Amino acid sequence: MGQEPLTVKTPIADYLDDLLDDVRDRDAGAVADYIPDLAGAPTDRLAAAVCTINGVLYTAGDDDVEFSMQSISKAFTYALALEQHGLDKLLEIVGMEPSGEAFNELSLDDATKRPMNPMINAGAIAVNQVIDGEEATVENRTETLRRFYSRLAGRELRIDEGLVESELGTSDRNMAIAYMLRSYGIVRDSARDAVESYVRQCAVMVTVSDLAVMGATLANGGVQPVTGEQIIERRVAQLVQAVMSSAGMYDAAGRWMATVGIPAKSGVSGGLLGTLPGQLGLATFSPRLDAQGNSERGKLVFQRFSHEGGMHLMSAETFGGAPVRVVKVVDDVTVFVLQGSMDFNGAEVFLRTAETHEFRTDTVRIDIHRVNRFNRIARTMTLEGMRRMREDGLTVQLLDPEGVLEDPDLGDGTYPEIVRED
Ligand code: DON
Repeated sequence: MGQEPLTVKTPIADYLDDLLDDVRDRDAGAVADYIPDLAGAPTDRLAAAVCTINGVLYTAGDDDVEFSMQSISKAFTYALALEQHGLDKLLEIVGMEPSGEAFNELSLDDATKRPMNPMINAGAIAVNQVIDGEEATVENRTETLRRFYSRLAGRELRIDEGLVESELGTSDRNMAIAYMLRSYGIVRDSARDAVESYVRQCAVMVTVSDLAVMGATLANGGVQPVTGEQIIERRVAQLVQAVMSSAGMYDAAGRWMATVGIPAKSGVSGGLLGTLPGQLGLATFSPRLDAQGNSERGKLVFQRFSHEGGMHLMSAETFGGAPVRVVKVVDDVTVFVLQGSMDFNGAEVFLRTAETHEFRTDTVRIDIHRVNRFNRIARTMTLEGMRRMREDGLTVQLLDPEGVLEDPDLGDGTYPEIVRED
C-alpha cells in the first residue's frame, strides 16, 4: 500500500436512508389543520437523525428542514421546571399518570383536581406557568425556555412569530383549558397570557438533528453529549424519560411502549423524539399524523429501528464496556479486537473507529474471539463495514474461533478470509 492512508466510510447514515426509503411512499394520516400555518406545510417531508451518547450524529432525508417543536417542547419544559422547583413542588400542580385521553382533553385528575401529566396540554400549560416563577412575564419566560432548548440543541434556536400568531388565532381549546386551570388556582396569569406563553414554547423551531441531540442529552443523564455540559440533573433526566414512556404518546402510550419500547414524545407538526437511556437520542420528521396526533411515518421508522436494532427498552439487550478493546498492527495486519455483547451502539463505535483509522497495511483483521454475541443490527452493521473495507481495497480477515458471527456473508454473497488464530 502507498503512503496515503486509506479511510473507510461508516454505513450508518445509509441505514437511516434505507429506513426512510422504506416508508417514503406511505401516505396514511393527515397534517394538523387546526393551526392554519401547519395546515399549509408540505406533507411529503421526511427526515431522521440519531445522536449517540458519545455525541456522534447521523442524519438522513430532509435533515436541514426546520419545524416547530409543538408538544415535544413539553418534555423539556418539564425538565426545566423540575430543575427550578423540584419534584414535590411540581406534584402540587401536575401528576405523572397516563391520562389515556387525547392531548387536548379538558380534564383533571378526579381526586387531585390537577392535570394528569405534563405531556397533555392541560399539564403543559400548568408547567409552563412555573418557569421563572409566577411573576415572570410571557416574554421573559419564553426567552428562558428558548435559551434552555438552545443549550440542549447546541445552537441558537428561534421562535416562529408567524406561527405563534397563527396558533393564537385558533386557540379556543387551549383557552378553555387555561380558564379551567385558573378556576382551580393552578394558573394565576390571565388565560390569554398562559396560552400565549405555552404557544410560544411550542413554536420554537428545530431540525431532526437538534431533536436527536436534545434527546441524547436526556439519554446521557443530562449531559449534552456534544458540548459535554451537564444541563439537566441525572435524576431529572431519568424522571422526564419515565414520564415520556408512560404519557409521551398520549392515548397511544401503552401500545407504543409495548410494541416499540422507546420513551418518546410527539408534536403536531410531525416531529417525533425518542430516547434510549445510556444509548442514544432518535428523531424523525414527517407531518402526516394519526388520530392521536402522532406522526404516521415517524412511528413506522421507530418501529423498524426498534425491531431490527433490539432497541426495545425491555429487551435487556444492553452491552457494557468498550466494544473496541484495541486496534493494533501485527505482522503487517491491522487488527481490531472487539469484545462484549455487540448491539447498535457497540457496532457504531467499531464502525466509527474504523472510519477514523488511517490504514497503513493492506490487510485488516476483525478479531471477535472476545465477543459473546451480535444482535441482528450489530451483525448487519459489522458485516457491511467489513464489505466496505474490502471495497476500499483492503484484504479483510475474520478471527472467530467460536463461530459467533455465523455464516459471515458480507451481504453480496462473498466472505472474509477466515483465519484460525491470532
Ligand atoms: O397546543 C397545541 O395544540 C399545540 N401547540 C401542540 C399540540 C401537540 O403538539 C400535540 N402532539 N402531538
